[in-house]
Amino acid sequence: MQLAERITTSKDAGLGNLLAAPKKNQVSFAGGLPDPLLFPQAELNAGFNRALAGTAAALQYASAAGYAPLRNQLATRLRQDGVPACTDSVLITQGAQQALDLIGRLTLDAGARVIVEGPTYPGALAALGTYQPKFCTVPVQEDGMDMAQLATTLARGGVRLIYTVPDFQNPTGTVMSLQKRQQLLALARKYDVLVLEDAPYRALRYRGTNLPTLRELDQDDRVLHVGSFSKILAPGLRLGWVTGAQDIIDRLVQLKSNSDLESSTLTQRAVSDYLANNDLDAHIKTLRRIYARKCTAMVATLQKHLPASVHVSNPDGGFFVWVELPPELNAEEILARVKDEVTFVPSTTLYPDQNVKNGMRIAFTNPDVAAIRRGCVKLAHGICAEIENAEGNYRVASTM
Ligand SMILES: Cc1ncc(COP(=O)(O)O)c(C=O)c1O
Repeated sequence: MQLAERITTSKDAGLGNLLAAPKKNQVSFAGGLPDPLLFPQAELNAGFNRALAGTAAALQYASAAGYAPLRNQLATRLRQDGVPACTDSVLITQGAQQALDLIGRLTLDAGARVIVEGPTYPGALAALGTYQPKFCTVPVQEDGMDMAQLATTLARGGVRLIYTVPDFQNPTGTVMSLQKRQQLLALARKYDVLVLEDAPYRALRYRGTNLPTLRELDQDDRVLHVGSFSKILAPGLRLGWVTGAQDIIDRLVQLKSNSDLESSTLTQRAVSDYLANNDLDAHIKTLRRIYARKCTAMVATLQKHLPASVHVSNPDGGFFVWVELPPELNAEEILARVKDEVTFVPSTTLYPDQNVKNGMRIAFTNPDVAAIRRGCVKLAHGICAEIENAEGNYRVASTM
C-alpha cells in the first residue's frame, strides 16, 4: 500500500503529546492549555441550549465562510482593536490551526521558502510543513525578529510567506516592537511577500498597552491576521478566524469548503449567542488577573531556585515563560531527568532544524499556583543537577 511521499517523509510533530493530560503526580508545563476552571461553562451551556432550541437551522448545513452574525461580531471586535474588518472579510476556521493549514495550502509549493521565527510555534511548523516548504529561521530577540537577518533571508529570494507571532510570541513570550513591525512590513513590501500574523495571545496582556497589529499597519493588503477563541474562551470549541484582503479570504473560503465544508454551525451559533449575552471583555479581564498571578509565581520560583547563568524570561502576557540554559546544557536531557514529576517543551521541537538544544518553553496557565511552585522547584533542582553534572564532566576533561 503506497502513501503519498510527503506523508512517508514527514515526521510526527508530537502535537498530540503536547496536549495530553498530565499523568498522576506530574505537573505539566508542556502544552499551551488554559485553566479549565476559567472556562465559562454555564454561560456556554446556555448558549448551546438556546442555539439548539431556537431553530433547526442550527443543525443544518450552512456556510463555508461561517455564521454571518458571528463573523459580524468578530469584525466589530477586530475593528475595536484597530484591525480593518467587515463581515465578508472574516472567515471562521476550526481554531487558528486550520487557518495556518489553509494559508499554507494557498501559498506554498514544495520547496518554497517560509520564514519562521526561531524558536517558533511547533504547530505552525506542522501545519505549514505539510506543503513541504523550506523553512528559514530568523532568530527572535527581546523585541521580536532580528530585522537584519530577515532582510538577508528575504534577499536570497524565493520566500512566499513570513510567519510571525508578534504578540506574546509562542514560545518566548516576546512582543515585536513598533519599529520592527514597521520594518517587517517595509521588507515584506520590498520583496512582495505575504505575512501571516498569528495572534491568539494578543488579548492576554498582563502589563503595559498593546501595539498596533501588523494588519492595522499594513498598507498594501499583504497581512493575514489570525485569531482564536481557544485561549480566551475554550479550545474545545475549535473556533478561530482569519481576516485579510478580500480576494485572499475568498480563496481561503473555497479551500475550507473543499476540505471540511464548514465549521460546526451549532458551535458558531452558541458562541455568537454567548457574545450577545455576556461580556467577553470582562471574562478576559478575569483571565488576565489570574494568569498574571500564575506567571508571577512561576517566574519568582524559578528565579529563586536557579543560578544567574540560567535566564528566565518575565513576559508581559501570553502563556509561556522561556528559559535559556547555559549553551552546553541540553533541555532534552533535563526533561529525561525530571519527566515523571514535571514536563515542559524542549527547544529542539521549536526549531525546524531541531538544532538549538538549550531552551525550555514552560506554560504557566494550566496548573494552579501551588502546583506551579511545586513543579518549578522540581524543575530547578533538575536543572541544577544537570549544571553540576556538566561542571563535573568539564573538570574531569580539563584534568585529563
Ligand atoms: C501561536 C499559536 N497559533 C495557533 C495555535 C492553535 O490554536 P487553536 O486552538 O485556535 O487552533 C496555537 C495553540 O497553542 C498557538 O500557540
